[in-house]
Amino acid sequence: MRDVDAIVLGAGAAGLMTALTAGQRGRRVAVLDHADEAGRKILISGGGRCNFTNLDCAATRFLSGNPHFAKSALARFGPADILAMIERHRIAWHEKTLGQLFCDGSARAVVAMLLAECAAGGVTIGLSHRITDVSLSDRFVVTTDRGVYRAPALVLATGGLSIPKMGASGLSHVIARQFGLCVTDTAPALVPLTLDVAAWPWVRELSGVSLPVAARCGKARFDEAMLFTHRGLSGPAILQISSYWQAGQEICLDLLPGIDAAGALRAAKRQRPRIEGRTALAGLLPQRLAQAMAAHHLPDGRLGDIPDAALNRLGQILSRWGLTPSGTEGFAKAEVTRGGIDTRGLSSRTMAARAVPGLYAVGEAVDVTGWLGGYNFQWAWASGHAAGCAI
Ligand code: FDA
Repeated sequence: MRDVDAIVLGAGAAGLMTALTAGQRGRRVAVLDHADEAGRKILISGGGRCNFTNLDCAATRFLSGNPHFAKSALARFGPADILAMIERHRIAWHEKTLGQLFCDGSARAVVAMLLAECAAGGVTIGLSHRITDVSLSDRFVVTTDRGVYRAPALVLATGGLSIPKMGASGLSHVIARQFGLCVTDTAPALVPLTLDVAAWPWVRELSGVSLPVAARCGKARFDEAMLFTHRGLSGPAILQISSYWQAGQEICLDLLPGIDAAGALRAAKRQRPRIEGRTALAGLLPQRLAQAMAAHHLPDGRLGDIPDAALNRLGQILSRWGLTPSGTEGFAKAEVTRGGIDTRGLSSRTMAARAVPGLYAVGEAVDVTGWLGGYNFQWAWASGHAAGCAI
């Protein structure tokens, strides 16, 4: 039996941040993880360069049952704080776009930084530990295949359900329920959307085509790139909108954001009446998409011979293409999980469970889901810091 002040389940971004913060405050902390290396998602994040935060971080960029929940933790540990740590460890970084900060080199430097900070706080990290039981008597008791740990504080930091192949599990949700906390419905988020290829056979042929779009779903709108895949749609605009999408709901795509598509087609008809309709479209859209749109929505022939009504109809499709995805690519391809441990049971200041003294939940395990672009790591750092300060 090993006695410590806090046991952290999960050596990911949030768990390591909790541990290093508590450890450097003099707490004896043990981090337990079933994986054989710490921070595996950090290593693959941002294409291997880890988009570790976003300068435009605000609570409005997170989805949660309580849109105010993330504010307190983010206010006390924001992008400038993680950036200060990154710079202290001499990790070179750059802003890519839209406030997204990436390492110049490998994401491995971020994991090394977190482990060095944990070491400075005397944190014990137990990898390859299979957790077989968690119970509470006067303290929390965590039984693993490598020994039993006991502590007055237990932090649930095993992340969400995305990418089970990399070891994602619902352990934090299971333990939260075991102690009477609610868990909201979960769904894959930041995930490619699929289309019914039987109904849209020609979309499959567009696989690889990408273009800037405005994607809308309900009140959410994202102006970013979209990519056609062999099963449906992906790219940043679609990943972002997927977090807002519910099964059966229509999404709306503007394939020519900022352009009056019908007006542009009518102007082209006046200026170049002898060109083919698809040639006119190719001036506005990527070639393969222009061909597909012309084949399905324009009569053959010269632009000058196509009635304005047909151009207007096509213009409307280009500006407001409504389609209902058949589903998502699921947790296997999702960057994050929407939903999780219900924030109503947690303190937004400390991440402590209101009804279970000593129990905390941080990171993706909680019902706080960030936009694409460094927001999810920022939540992991902020919530981990909040818990680490409270333990
Ligand atoms: P995380 O999942 O990081 O850590 C959980 C830990 O718990 C893991 O070490 C796991 O092994 C362990 N664990 C799970 N189940 C367990 C069990 N049963 N027993 C013991 N241990 C268990 N975000 C961002 O802001 N910028 C980015 O660039 C990216 N890029 C990105 C790429 C890809 C491909 C993915 C899948 C995700 C991203 N993300 C991202 C999202 C980001 O990785 C994610 O939100 C954070 O890693 C969440 O941190 P947590 O610490 O909460 O969970």
